[in-house]
Amino acid sequence: MKIVIGSDHGGFELKETIKDRLLQRDYSIIDVGCSSVDSVDYPDFSDQVVSHIVNGTCNKGILICGTGIGMSIAANRDRRIRAANVHNLFTARMSREHNNANILCLGARVIETDLALEIVSVWLDTEFTGGRHQIRIDKFSE
Ligand code: RB5
Repeated sequence: MKIVIGSDHGGFELKETIKDRLLQRDYSIIDVGCSSVDSVDYPDFSDQVVSHIVNGTCNKGILICGTGIGMSIAANRDRRIRAANVHNLFTARMSREHNNANILCLGARVIETDLALEIVSVWLDTEFTGGRHQIRIDKFSE
């Protein structure tokens, strides 16, 4: 599976940690930045991650900012995107099983690093249930 990852300055350090972990697990990663803790604008990075998903170059994306809120709001403006701002293992699993989330948003100032890494694992390993959940997704998707 190919994963695209991006962050703003608030999520930069967590992005690097998650990227290292995913590379250890042999995932193929595209990192769209940012590349330091210098201040940047989160939509510039959510746009790039969204492009990789809608173009089909990557199956799933991960976006990290301070809260996960800005990234999720920006990414969800595209009707082909289902970006879930996740804070615990239950919502990590449900965002895949019920919502078929194709982007995981994390708030680096909200959750600890170990929990973030667990959330990423659960999110990547959980399959979409389909059925009635697909019917619901179709009602707001392109
Ligand atoms: C940056 O300070 C912060 O606003 C950003 O990382 C994010 O939390 C926005 O939603």
